[in-house]
Amino acid sequence: MAPGITSIDPSSLKGLLAEHQDICTLELTAVTGLEEVAAEECQEKLGVNCVIARGRVFIDIHVQQVPEVFKLRSIDNVNVILQMVTNFSFPDNREQCFQQLYKFAEKPDWRKGMSVWKNVFSFPEEPIQEVKALNNDYCKPRPDIDLKRMKLTSQIIDNIPEGILPQHLKKKRQPEEEQTNAEINSAVTDTTVESEEDSSEKQRVQASGPKFRISCNRTGTNHNFGSSEAARQFGGAVNEMFGWPVDLSCFELEILLYIDTEFVYVGVCLTREPLFKRNLTNFGRTNLRSTICYNMVRLAAPQPGEVIVDPLCGGATIPMEGSLTYSKVLHLGGDNFGQAVKRSRDNIDYLVKKGKSMPIDVAQWDAARLPLRNQCVDIIVSDLPFGKRIGSKGDNRVLYYNSLLEMARITRTGTGRAVLLTHDRNSMMRNIKRVHTLWKSATSRTINIGGLSAVIYILHRTALLFDPNLKIASKTHKKPSEPGEF
Ligand SMILES: C[S@@+](CC[C@H](N)C(=O)[O-])C[C@H]1O[C@@H](n2cnc3c(N)ncnc32)[C@H](O)[C@@H]1O
Repeated sequence: MAPGITSIDPSSLKGLLAEHQDICTLELTAVTGLEEVAAEECQEKLGVNCVIARGRVFIDIHVQQVPEVFKLRSIDNVNVILQMVTNFSFPDNREQCFQQLYKFAEKPDWRKGMSVWKNVFSFPEEPIQEVKALNNDYCKPRPDIDLKRMKLTSQIIDNIPEGILPQHLKKKRQPEEEQTNAEINSAVTDTTVESEEDSSEKQRVQASGPKFRISCNRTGTNHNFGSSEAARQFGGAVNEMFGWPVDLSCFELEILLYIDTEFVYVGVCLTREPLFKRNLTNFGRTNLRSTICYNMVRLAAPQPGEVIVDPLCGGATIPMEGSLTYSKVLHLGGDNFGQAVKRSRDNIDYLVKKGKSMPIDVAQWDAARLPLRNQCVDIIVSDLPFGKRIGSKGDNRVLYYNSLLEMARITRTGTGRAVLLTHDRNSMMRNIKRVHTLWKSATSRTINIGGLSAVIYILHRTALLFDPNLKIASKTHKKPSEPGEF
């Protein structure tokens, strides 16, 4: 697993040093568990060194090379980093913390970061006109507003003085049975932004320039303030220094403030929406992020002329991403549910109409009885039903076994490989053992998909020929119980 963010040494990032005005440091967010695969892509396509931390990769890049970063397929968001400190000491006194956060807005290299931002978004004017010195008049704390959305499980509630805790947080000190389940949420961090009510009050100076908001992501148990409180102080100072107007919903500029124990960094977001949404027009309930799809295909290391199949392709996210990035490989997908196949075709047609050339096709089929001859496929890349939204873990035991056998039948002996994603480890591990003469398990990676832990298994096809007698009667042709599943 990649090390936590606090392991980063800011002095190893050239873009953060004042003497390198033509180099900027970018934070590229990646799916937790796939950071190394993303770093490989960066090294291969941009020729840069990467510093890896959990859920992200940092790179130093020439400011003119920044547009190339958006062509990467393995990363979700791009942020330019303006400042990073490892020893931000938060005093016990809340007011002093606020003052420090407010003053911290003077530290980042705003000119470099904002020039990168201006170029990426083609912002028509110079965002930094005049810089006013801070008058040390930090914002009046508003716990009634800022702590309104804090969750009962927030680990910092005990650090906040009783007198200012909003009513819903005082319940923490009541017996547990009095708390409703709805209030009990397992989040450890409190990631919030300021409330609407706050925005007009924040504009203390004549506003012009990009409309902005601060998004604060805070982790750690040592703080005595919430994310929104930190965002308010930092945002107040930014407004005062540059005169930019605060707009929490229709913002042009999103400034990121990360606080982890004593590790604090500031970035500016260069992606309006995550890059993993870029391929799809027709979404289903189990769509896999295109960035995970890319990483899975990449793990299979496809070679020109090879054939890749996703036998359980849903909306064809894996074959689509594969065909957009590996154009010298043939990508096939299929699903037993007609609507999923229709959705796949709509998604593909949309991209083809946009002028993309894609070596891809999809079909309706049963993954346990594929209309393909023996050994005609080189690679299988598939996202198997987790047994949560589609099917059940009971169904999976049969489906996984029969699919693994069928995959072994159609895949070339000796050189074939499979990259399979599932959340249902038990069914997978049990069945990999059952088919060990056909598939050799190479490695596995645990990844985090929106809070759900899943595993990517990489299997290699052994030299043993497929034996049709291994197949058992299956229920895998069963259609999903509700058409609404998609
Ligand atoms: C996890 S979803 C795949 C989602 C897909 N990666 C996407 O992003 O849209 C698993 C898919 O397996 C399909 N499936 C389940 N049993 C199947 C079978 N026996 N043959 C073919 N497809 C099957 C389901 O219809 C579902 O679309």
